[in-house]
Amino acid sequence: MTKKKRILSGMRPTGPLHLGNLHGALSNWIKMQEEYECFFFIADWHALTSDYEETGSISQYAEEMMIDWLSAGLAPEKSSLFLQSKIKEHAELFLILSMITPVPWLERNPTYKDQIVQLSNKDLSTFGFLGYPVLQAADIIIYKADGVPVGVDQVPHVEITREIARRFNYLYGEVFPEPKAILAETPKILGIDRRKMSKSYNNAIYLSDSGDEVAKKVAGMITDPNRARKSDPGDPDICNVFDFHKRYSDPDTIATINEECRKAGIGCVECKKIMAKNLIVFLEPIHEKREYYKSKPDLVDSIFADGTEKARGVAQQTMAEVRAAVKIQA
Ligand code: TRP
Ligand code: SF4
Repeated sequence: MTKKKRILSGMRPTGPLHLGNLHGALSNWIKMQEEYECFFFIADWHALTSDYEETGSISQYAEEMMIDWLSAGLAPEKSSLFLQSKIKEHAELFLILSMITPVPWLERNPTYKDQIVQLSNKDLSTFGFLGYPVLQAADIIIYKADGVPVGVDQVPHVEITREIARRFNYLYGEVFPEPKAILAETPKILGIDRRKMSKSYNNAIYLSDSGDEVAKKVAGMITDPNRARKSDPGDPDICNVFDFHKRYSDPDTIATINEECRKAGIGCVECKKIMAKNLIVFLEPIHEKREYYKSKPDLVDSIFADGTEKARGVAQQTMAEVRAAVKIQA
């Protein structure tokens, strides 16, 4: 048997998990568990780079994220699940990598430039924020990951990771493989206002939303913007509610709505009710598991403690090689 390839990915605990996170990243990780040796972690130090002024919610969101991950289907017998800050070796490698990373690589990082503009309400002119990809590089290469499943927005970070790994190997000898970004093919799910689903846009449907909350949010969704009255025919091809149907409704329902909408045979209110019902059914098993894990905090803690153990073993091994290569023994 050939050895399984190793993948690793992380998520920042900056809010409750929503459908965008589920379909964009998590469901892909869940599938990859069958094929790869997996490490998934909650990047709480990375959350600190932008939320350093208000840190109280980070650990709270991290707790919730553990429950969301398990409820959605990440499985401790298949993946090592852990919290970044539990493994101090990430910080040690980050420090060493920061010595060899040229600042211009970080300054021209498109994600960095973009975030500075987008998060203009925060002062992000910090050393830590500029160094975000260096910490991410440490996260990745400390496990000698072959692949990193991420969204397109993270590709520049994986690219910088490869450059840093190469530079380390060039300076100190071959220690790190160069990891590859693995992009998911799943089409993006939009928020209820048709913008990218995001907590900061206040347009997200959360895995933890109750049935009533889901129904209310769906009722407020923007539909075909050209359809003003129920008697006007609609165009499902440009309707976000229809995109949701395609994900959560059965093929017959999808076909019927596709037809009826175009000849004004169904109104948006009714159409949304049908979709909301199906979405709620989709969320039910996740909600049941959420209840289960919420009632068993010790179980959740022990799952993450086991994941931390496994991850730490690998991280310590790599750091022994790094210290030998750099010739600074701890
Ligand atoms: N930067 C990633 C994000 O915002 C989170 C992250 C931190 C990460 N470290 C990582 C992702 C290592 C993949 C690998 O989504
Ligand atoms: Fe969209 Fe449904 Fe309204 Fe058609 S009937 S525009 S698919 S919400």
